[in-house]
Amino acid sequence: MARIILTLSALILFSTLLLPSITIAEEQKENTDEAVAIAKEVEEGLETPFHYDSEDDTDTETEFEEKLESNPPHCKCPKRHHKHKKHRPHVRPEFSNRDVDELNLILNSEYLEAEFFLHGSYGFGLDKFNGTSVNVTGPKPIGAQKAHTGRFIEHLAKEFGLQSMGHIRELSKKLGEKAISRPEIDISRKAWGGLFNEAFGTKLKPAFDPYTTGNHFLLAAYMLPYVSYTGYVALGMHAEGSCARDLVARLAGVKGAEDASIRTVLYQRRRQVVERYNITVGEFTSVLSALREKLDRDNQTVTDPKKGNFTLPVTIDEGVLVPGTDTPEELLTGNIISVNENSLSVGRSPEQLLQVWYGTGNASIPGLFFPKGANGKIAAKYLSALR
Ligand SMILES: *[C@@H]1O[C@H](CO)[C@@H](O)[C@H](O)[C@H]1NC(C)=O
Ligand SMILES: *[C@@H]1O[C@H](CO)[C@@H](O)[C@H](O)[C@H]1NC(C)=O
Ligand SMILES: *[C@@H]1O[C@H](CO)[C@@H](O)[C@H](O)[C@H]1NC(C)=O
Ligand SMILES: *[C@@H]1O[C@H](CO)[C@@H](O)[C@H](O)[C@H]1NC(C)=O
Ligand SMILES: *[C@@H]1O[C@H](CO)[C@@H](O)[C@H](O)[C@H]1NC(C)=O
Ligand SMILES: *[C@@H]1O[C@H](CO)[C@@H](O)[C@H](O)[C@H]1NC(C)=O
Repeated sequence: MARIILTLSALILFSTLLLPSITIAEEQKENTDEAVAIAKEVEEGLETPFHYDSEDDTDTETEFEEKLESNPPHCKCPKRHHKHKKHRPHVRPEFSNRDVDELNLILNSEYLEAEFFLHGSYGFGLDKFNGTSVNVTGPKPIGAQKAHTGRFIEHLAKEFGLQSMGHIRELSKKLGEKAISRPEIDISRKAWGGLFNEAFGTKLKPAFDPYTTGNHFLLAAYMLPYVSYTGYVALGMHAEGSCARDLVARLAGVKGAEDASIRTVLYQRRRQVVERYNITVGEFTSVLSALREKLDRDNQTVTDPKKGNFTLPVTIDEGVLVPGTDTPEELLTGNIISVNENSLSVGRSPEQLLQVWYGTGNASIPGLFFPKGANGKIAAKYLSALR
């Protein structure tokens, strides 16, 4: 819908600026026809083109074709499709072996997030959509349930869950038979409770349960899209083919947006005391980020003239309240979006992703969300180190 409106506005602007000879009535009709055509296309279940160009925009077309030809030979991206289904070329994108492994690593996190957010908001998960929106194989998640969140957070969770389901559909389609199946996922109260105890270094009383209130659910959610986001950023940087880069960039964009929505709400509520605990939302985020920093096991040596050499974790993760020196340009105290000193995104390596998902700080020791380990070759490489 947003795209239709945008396209429509762009068309109106374009025609007002460049085609003054066309009368308003004609313009209007043309715009309406375009809009209807696009709406139909969407209704028919066709993908909306990534770039929408008007029919006579041949320059862009040529440029695009040239770009396709300069792709590495192993990567045949599907050509930009045309308006009618039957004219769409069916080119299966091809990925290098490493790209396949990395996209499969991403699938693990999409499965995790789809199940957590769908169950938390709808009370059911991917299995309900099996055979229609998505084809799913592999075990059902452990301990998934609906959360008592209130409608706003329920809506956010529905969006995130459905977005992850879309990502699973896209990745599964592109990877074909090389796609992993759903790994064993544990999102039970017990798993979350353990994670929060670990973060606070003590047994929280009562045990943390993400499914009790909106704040609890959001704080748990704080642990998911940001981790995938940083992972995707790093995977995107190292993807070998342009198909994989394209896909990862577009997935990372959504994860970043999801994380930003979560953090915006948490920031607004930073001074609220979380129900059942004498701890504020802001403090929770700092503690959770500190745990992730620990699980990343990424220390740097800092040299200080007085203290000599000592190690500090490399900052990948920050809560919504940080010291002024950690905020954009060191001018704020709030930190809705976590970035580096020049406000760039920070990446997590595949190994670090696994370290955090497993809650063990060690990619060879599965646990937490993936009690049997994540699926795919990258995860298997680390797991086999133990077996
Ligand atoms: C599910 O699998 C079937 C058979 O391979 C395929 O025809 C269908 O398009 C798939 N559906 C989705 C949503 O991927
Ligand atoms: C999804 O449905 C297919 C048949 O359409 C079935 O083979 C498969 O086992 C189902 N997946 C799960 C997880 O139940
Ligand atoms: C809650 O925490 C604040 C500040 O940490 C402290 O001053 C207060 O006594 C605590 N209240 C309870 C009921 O524990
Ligand atoms: C990283 O540094 C922290 C703080 O100095 C320290 O507690 C931790 O043991 C170090 N971790 C590793 C893996 O070196
Ligand atoms: C600190 O580390 C640097 C290299 O990282 C080394 O050259 C220097 O000697 C070290 N200083 C001390 C006091 O250990
Ligand atoms: C991870 O755990 C395994 C098995 O305990 C151990 O051999 C390995 O050294 C650990 N890796 C790291 C990075 O600590």
